[in-house]
Amino acid sequence: MIKHCLFPAAGYGTRFLPATKSMPKEMMPIVNKPLIEYGVDEAIQAGMTSMAVVTGRGKSSLMDHFDKNYELEHQIQDTNKEPLLDDIRSLIDSAHYTFIRQREMKGLGHAILTGKELVGDNPFAVVLADDLCINESQGVLEQMAALFRQFRCSIVAVEEVPESETHKYGVIAGEHLSDDLIRITDMVEKPEQGSAPSNLAIIGRYILTPDIFDILEETEPGKGGEIQITDALLKQAQSGCVIAYKFKGKRFDCGSVEGYIDATNYCYEHVYLKGSKVSINKSSTKKL
Ligand code: UTP
Repeated sequence: MIKHCLFPAAGYGTRFLPATKSMPKEMMPIVNKPLIEYGVDEAIQAGMTSMAVVTGRGKSSLMDHFDKNYELEHQIQDTNKEPLLDDIRSLIDSAHYTFIRQREMKGLGHAILTGKELVGDNPFAVVLADDLCINESQGVLEQMAALFRQFRCSIVAVEEVPESETHKYGVIAGEHLSDDLIRITDMVEKPEQGSAPSNLAIIGRYILTPDIFDILEETEPGKGGEIQITDALLKQAQSGCVIAYKFKGKRFDCGSVEGYIDATNYCYEHVYLKGSKVSINKSSTKKL
């Protein structure tokens, strides 16, 4: 069983400036829940109980969100608004949360390496909370955890993207084991237009075996001067095995404005309206 889930959340979120000047991108709401909460929910559904968050300066609201707010709880107690805290209370009770700071933004690979102290010598999941994945019957991490039990090696989620989009992603190539499973033989971070090895782009869900930490320690800065997880994964694939999985479900790139709006519209209709337990009106039993 995979118990640990790592959330690299130290990036600056520059595509969302000025909103992200003093607010973490991961705290931006999709309807009424911050992005990170969707990711934590997905990890808990997959049986994970240890959430490890890699943060940076100005990101302390991430810690506060997964802690009690006694004043608010006292104010809201016994009003018709109290059920609005049910979901977050349940997430807080279902897992424990640890945080570590990445002091310098040296890339996703470096952020994952920073999380080593929290994850230890265990296989672990990685969630990039700005990739919002929705599958109402079985979450993407749960699908991947089942594959890990079968293959016992690192697994990355991939999605087919138009060729014009491949330059934004890590792109894989390899040997097809089935329609949705590929054994990776090649991987390129943000390939130049026209030079991608396929149209299969890595999205923000990974399951990694702990030997990735030793590989990351040896990995030199790559594309953009950053330590790239794709470079480390390619080494792992060449010396062992890494599987790419075409996940089932929808993915929204909430790091981009267009993806964020699409996710909001989709979640309002398919998640919020379906799951909303309370109707908020002004007449609460206790005045707030
Ligand atoms: P992105 O490049 O997509 O996120 O990194 P960003 O840098 O926050 O956003 P833009 O591009 O400036 O708008 C992918 C993920 O890796 C994390 C980010 O927080 C994001 O979840 N990351 C990236 C780190 O934690 N540390 C880093 O040094 C780089």
